[in-house]
Amino acid sequence: MYVCLCKGVSDHKIREVVEQGARSFREVREQTGCATQCGKCACMAKTITREAVARE
Ligand code: FES
Repeated sequence: MYVCLCKGVSDHKIREVVEQGARSFREVREQTGCATQCGKCACMAKTITREAVARE
């Protein structure tokens, strides 16, 4: 599902960048552009990032 509609970032994409080494939401944001426009997705994107990092 899309987490960030502005930038077209899916939950799958967030998990993928964490698998490839991102360890914080800041890094996910830098690598995907997620939450860099309207910001509405930030809360959910942070939660998904935190869960993915915890699983690594
Ligand atoms: Fe992610 Fe707007 S939905 S920046």
